[in-house]
Amino acid sequence: MMTSLDGKIMGNYMGTPEGNAAGAAFKAIAFGENPYYKHQGWLSGRVTTDDNFTFYAEPELDETAGTVPEGDFVAETTGMYYVSIDPSGRLGWKRNSLTYAGTTAHVVEVLTGKASNAYKAFLRGLGISYIIAGEDALDYAVALAKLKELFGVETLMLGGGGVLNWSFIQAGMCDEVSIVVAAAADGSDNTPALFDAREGLSDDTPVGFDLQAAEVKDGGALWLRYLVKQAV
Ligand SMILES: NC(=O)c1ccc[n+]([C@@H]2O[C@H](COP(=O)([O-])OP(=O)(O)OC[C@H]3O[C@@H](n4cnc5c(N)ncnc54)[C@H](OP(=O)(O)O)[C@@H]3O)[C@@H](O)[C@H]2O)c1
Repeated sequence: MMTSLDGKIMGNYMGTPEGNAAGAAFKAIAFGENPYYKHQGWLSGRVTTDDNFTFYAEPELDETAGTVPEGDFVAETTGMYYVSIDPSGRLGWKRNSLTYAGTTAHVVEVLTGKASNAYKAFLRGLGISYIIAGEDALDYAVALAKLKELFGVETLMLGGGGVLNWSFIQAGMCDEVSIVVAAAADGSDNTPALFDAREGLSDDTPVGFDLQAAEVKDGGALWLRYLVKQAV
């Protein structure tokens, strides 16, 4: 993740020279031809996907679609995946892949039992893979186990937003935090932070981190890597 000096993951600071320099460092670490992290995909919350890729479009559902087969749907195994946490099946996808910072990824939707038959039929029609993880709430362990078994994902990057990040950390499902801190801020009081507790998903129980490395990047940015300690 990239943040401002005050830990924000969105905002006007991103358009400053210091924000641009930090953004370039972030992309080189995580994406492109030779990234530091050799991951097989990245995980995003539903709001992050709507903001960046599906733009709050309504999915084109056919409520008369025939009943889809039970369980998961593997449309493609490509080696790079955009894993979308969308428990209720709300995202209005138009295609089954996306390209971000020079990296093309097949879309895998992580649904729960709350997603409708019509939504699953919609995903099948677009060739978008999906897995079912949990009935009423996301089952983290099931989601990660299925991503490994069905798609060969060994290393998965938590790609935000703050709600997704904090819920995975509190669930004990994140080993490492890696952030590029821009030498910029904008003081906004309505932008999301790197970690955001959300009622029903997470709370404000504190977590400690073990610093592994700190590196200065262009534009005064700092790349910080921490291991996650157990929640106290
Ligand atoms: N600077 C960066 O590096 C960076 C990176 C990524 C994102 N961002 C920005 O961050 C902003 C969005 O962040 P956000 O924190 O508001 O939202 P978010 O984490 O992207 O999405 C939150 C939603 O995802 C689903 N979700 C997340 N965790 C879940 C869990 N444990 N169990 C079940 N559902 C879960 C829920 O969807 P439902 O509401 O459908 O139930 C939840 O409301 C965007 O503006 C995005 O552009 C910045």
